[in-house]
Amino acid sequence: MIVLGFESSCDETGVALVSDTDGLLSHTLYSQVAMHQEYGGVVPELASRDHVRRILPLTNQALADAGLTLANVDAVAYTAGPGLAGALLVGASVAQSIAWAKGLPAIPIHHLEGHLLSPLLADPRPEFPFVALLVSGGHTQLMRVDGVGRYTLLGETLDDAAGEAFDKTAKLLGLGYPGGPALSKLAEQGDASRFDLPRPKLHSPDLDFSFSGLKTAVMVRAKGLGLVKVGEDDQMDPQTRADLAAATEAAIVDVLVGKATLALKQTGLKNLVIAGGVGANRLLRERLAVQLRRFGGRAYFPPLALCTDNGAMIAFAAAMRVKAGLAELNTERRAFTVHP
Ligand code: KG4
Ligand code: ZN
Repeated sequence: MIVLGFESSCDETGVALVSDTDGLLSHTLYSQVAMHQEYGGVVPELASRDHVRRILPLTNQALADAGLTLANVDAVAYTAGPGLAGALLVGASVAQSIAWAKGLPAIPIHHLEGHLLSPLLADPRPEFPFVALLVSGGHTQLMRVDGVGRYTLLGETLDDAAGEAFDKTAKLLGLGYPGGPALSKLAEQGDASRFDLPRPKLHSPDLDFSFSGLKTAVMVRAKGLGLVKVGEDDQMDPQTRADLAAATEAAIVDVLVGKATLALKQTGLKNLVIAGGVGANRLLRERLAVQLRRFGGRAYFPPLALCTDNGAMIAFAAAMRVKAGLAELNTERRAFTVHP
């Protein structure tokens, strides 16, 4: 079975072809980052319009890369949510149109399920059950995963997501959008020990997170240094900026590693799967790999290129759902909805 998958929930247009037996056949991706950069964040209307421009050329490219045509496709999958309503509608409309025209089933996929199962596209792949740490720009969750479609929420953020904490602090430090990769790169030149930032909820017995105070703590430190005005024309010297970046990254990573370890202890499981954009963070990857070895378990990551939003994870999640008997495969024409 070959699934054609579409992702268009935010600022990345992703199209991919996945086979249930041979895995990923091809994937194409266009990131709108450059377009949104001058606004300091994603502009929803611009995002929708750009998805419209990119999605068909990317589809043709994905098919050509796999040496296939639509005649070879058995099902079409798309991200149904959560995400930006207009952006989601583009992927959903294209997927449903192709499905209707070709008499194929169209399979709606929850964006987070796509992220959650993406480490199974890597080699070695984790066995069920495992604990998943989902860390994206919109979500921070710990889940127990017993199989496809068998997910138990163990804990989640009470306010900002981990990616949001990276992005907001990066903005505060005058770094561009998206902030996570920029902050992480700058942190490499910084000394994390210069600023003692809080590790919210690190020692609480629950598995929830709270990151909203971190940005404020960074701002207070910056003010304490007389750097009231932070931004492009501030007076912060480059080393201070790098030290603050390093301290912020260390605080976020400490909390994520601590809570993931606690989740493993509480569930008695040994394997941890990391998914979502923040899973691309180098320090988090290194720290979790070491911690899991110490713990007698193992940390599994998606391939780096599939950490952030992409079509491969959507096509793959659909293929897994079909295999598990969880996807509706009828080809009846009916109204479709997206779930922003
Ligand atoms: O999963 P994703 O692509 O989109 C959402 O579903 O949100 O995640 C995007 C998030 C952003 O907050 C971005 O800053 C963060 O992932 N991110 C990173 C890194 N790469 C992406 N955060 C820290 N370090 C990185 N290397
Ligand atoms: Zn995502």
